[in-house]
Amino acid sequence: MLYILDTADLEAIKHCNEFYPLAGVTTNPSIISKANTDFWKLVKEIRNIIGEDKMLHVQTTQKTAEKIVEEAKLLKKELKGDFYVKIPINEEGLKATMELKKLGIGVTMTAIFTPTQALIAAKAGASFVAPYVNRLDNIIGDGTEVVAQIVEQFDLYGMDCKVLAASFKNAEQVHKCSMVGCQSVTVTADILKNVISHPMTDAAIAGFDKDWKSVYGDKTILDF
Ligand code: E4P
Repeated sequence: MLYILDTADLEAIKHCNEFYPLAGVTTNPSIISKANTDFWKLVKEIRNIIGEDKMLHVQTTQKTAEKIVEEAKLLKKELKGDFYVKIPINEEGLKATMELKKLGIGVTMTAIFTPTQALIAAKAGASFVAPYVNRLDNIIGDGTEVVAQIVEQFDLYGMDCKVLAASFKNAEQVHKCSMVGCQSVTVTADILKNVISHPMTDAAIAGFDKDWKSVYGDKTILDF
């Protein structure tokens, strides 16, 4: 499982990059707009924080295949390292994906809501497809089931494309995706925190501390 952070909040990225086994960062135009700052300064700062070995996914703002390819080349040149251009699926997006595949620029095909969209995106050469789990759950579309079907189809047809499940609102959705063999998830810092949190864990840690202190006081192993 690859854990990716879905944000442009630099403090959250710094924190999660330090404390979690993070594989990279994803953004989209809504996330970037929320930061409301200079685009290049922001995405280059994200690259600086995570380094060139981790994945950075940035979405195109273009609508035609020609312009998407032009923008993808510029993004790759400026952001270097392990880079993927996110392209929403439609005819122009598929055409751009086929061209970018030839140029060796990774594509994450996004705004995926059905297994049929995912399979054809993989066939066009996308490295990742991003199905939107919570947006499907919101309309009783069963986001995890869509993820499961995409995973199954990719296995069935031996597609060289990973599922990057997106649009999560809770840790249970992340867990369900992990149980169907989804290769990667992109989540907020809050959800990442919820993935590792449990009140019983807090109680267990407090119990260990109390028992140790009752015999050794404030001494730690380093003090012996
Ligand atoms: C990431 O690739 C998606 O753009 C993002 O997860 C969508 O999330 P939302 O449904 O919370 O906007």
